[in-house]
Amino acid sequence: MVMLKSSAMRSASRMATQAAKPSLAPRVGMVQARHNSNGPAKSPRYNAVSAQYPVETRKQGMAAETRGPPQPPQKESLNLETGKEAPTFLGTTKRLPEFNMADKVVLVSGGARGLGLVQAEAMLEAGAIVYALDRLPEPSPYFQVVQQRAAETLGTQLHYRQIDVRDAANLEKVIADIADQHQRLDGLIAAAGIQQETPALEYTAEDANNMFAVNITGAMMTASAAARQMIKYECAGSIVMIASMSGTIANRGLICSAYNASKAGVLQLCRNLAAEWGAHKIRVNTLSPGYIVTDMVEKLFETHPERRIEWGNQNMLGRVSAPAEYRGAAAFLISEASSYMTGADLRIDGGHAAW
Ligand SMILES: NC(=O)c1ccc[n+]([C@@H]2O[C@H](COP(=O)([O-])OP(=O)(O)OC[C@H]3O[C@@H](n4cnc5c(N)ncnc54)[C@H](O)[C@@H]3O)[C@@H](O)[C@H]2O)c1
Repeated sequence: MVMLKSSAMRSASRMATQAAKPSLAPRVGMVQARHNSNGPAKSPRYNAVSAQYPVETRKQGMAAETRGPPQPPQKESLNLETGKEAPTFLGTTKRLPEFNMADKVVLVSGGARGLGLVQAEAMLEAGAIVYALDRLPEPSPYFQVVQQRAAETLGTQLHYRQIDVRDAANLEKVIADIADQHQRLDGLIAAAGIQQETPALEYTAEDANNMFAVNITGAMMTASAAARQMIKYECAGSIVMIASMSGTIANRGLICSAYNASKAGVLQLCRNLAAEWGAHKIRVNTLSPGYIVTDMVEKLFETHPERRIEWGNQNMLGRVSAPAEYRGAAAFLISEASSYMTGADLRIDGGHAAW
């Protein structure tokens, strides 16, 4: 035990010494020195993410390089010296730099409200330029708050484009225009979706077809339109399709066969799209949330208020979730933090489906 520990310490110390060697600096991933608004100009520095990942796994090609992660802000440097407050600035060169998304362009369908908007805000915080695509003529009032925050305090932009994911031709045009403008496309969160609670014996073919048109065909057309641009601009993009735990289970007390079938379709689409697009370095994964209290679910609570408690009791944590509990997952799946993950599902459901 003692030997192991001391050998581990020696190796850690060796790694620290090597990391400090200036000879590492000129390797791949060098970025230009520039003024940081939080501190003085820094000398050219080592890009930890680029240097640690083999070149083949990173974005290659004609899309312009993004800016690297920033140095720790002045306050963090001070905290490191004084130890009085925790130095917790993530996404800097020393704090999980693989989550840095500065200059990357990310689309979020269904981003006018709900889960999509909250995940859009997470992308903005990581530095990305975000386009919310949604069928609503006007996004929710919170959208304006996030848009203003992006411009005034995050140094990036949140845009809105009205689209209906059932209109494949328009989707193609809007997404192509965005990619042409930035000469790149790095990510897509396909969150646009609908829910309908109707017993299977009463489901009309029209309603079932609409469910599949939005949740399956719409998600597929959005992903394909995005992938075409990622291929055109040679961006190793990441696509996240919002599925659901309902794609794997039948929900107790929630009668929505077509919705569950649509989410099962999304789970399978992900595996096939990942298989087809892996050769283009495009990753495709699904995120399967449990119950989230968004407008979609509030509508279901209107007629059945008891569900707020009952649904929580069906999982291991004894509660339903908030949209903010999926921010980290979005940042992980879209950024280089998940660079070796594709064709997979990330289920975040309070343990609902594990019981
Ligand atoms: N809320 C939950 O409990 C829960 C659980 C698991 C998965 N999900 C999934 O998460 C995603 C987001 O759901 P939410 O809870 O935020 O719902 P929400 O209704 O608040 O948001 C969905 C968004 O999609 C948009 N949309 C719907 N149809 C569209 C279309 N044809 N074209 C473009 N935009 C369209 C809506 O306008 C809305 O802004 C959905 O795919 C949903 O199925 C939700």
